[in-house]
Amino acid sequence: MARRHFVIDAASIRKQARADIEHGAVTAGYSADRVAVIKALNESLASEIVCVLRYRRHYYTASGIHARSVAAEFLEHANEEQSHADQIATRIVQLGGAPDFSPYGLQERSHTEYVEGQGLVEMLEENLVAERIAIDTYRKIIQYLGNDDPTTRRMMEAILASEEEHAEDLSSLLEELGKKGEPAKKPVRNRCKH
Ligand SMILES: [Fe+2]
Ligand SMILES: [Fe+2]
Repeated sequence: MARRHFVIDAASIRKQARADIEHGAVTAGYSADRVAVIKALNESLASEIVCVLRYRRHYYTASGIHARSVAAEFLEHANEEQSHADQIATRIVQLGGAPDFSPYGLQERSHTEYVEGQGLVEMLEENLVAERIAIDTYRKIIQYLGNDDPTTRRMMEAILASEEEHAEDLSSLLEELGKKGEPAKKPVRNRCKH
C-alpha cells in the first residue's frame, strides 16, 4: 500500500493561530458551517431543556403502586438530560455562538414535545417517544458533522448513546408494568415533527 505523505506546515499554522486569535477555539482548519452547527446545537439544547422539564414533571406526579421505581428513573433521566444541555451549551460558546436558554419559543426550537401524560404508562410512552425523536435527530446531526467538526460529533455521539440507554430503560419499564398487570401497553404514537 502506498504511504500517504504527511507534513505539517507549522509556520503557516502558527501565523494563522496568531492572526485569528479572537476566534478562540475556532481555527482556520475548522471546515464545518459554524452558523449551521450552532443552530443545530441550539435546537438540541432546546430539546434537552424540554426533556428536563417533562421528566421532572413526571418525577413529581408519578403515582400508583409501581410509581417509586419509575419515578426514580425519571429523576435520573432528568439529571442526565440536564448534563446533555450543559455540554451542548458549553460547545456552543466554544464555537463562538450564544446558547439560547430563552423560554420564549422553547417548544418551537425543540425537536421533542412537552406532554404531561396521564398515569405511569402514558408518561413512559411519552418519554420513550421523545427519546426516539432525540435518537433520530442526533444521528442526523452526527452524519451532517462527519469529519468537519470531530469535537462536536464526538459529544453528540456520547449523548446519542445516552439517549439510546434511556429508550432501553423506558422500554423495559413498560414491559415490566405490562407483566405486573398495569394497563396494557398502547402502540406508541409517532410525535416526530419532521
Ligand atoms: Fe438528552
Ligand atoms: Fe434521554
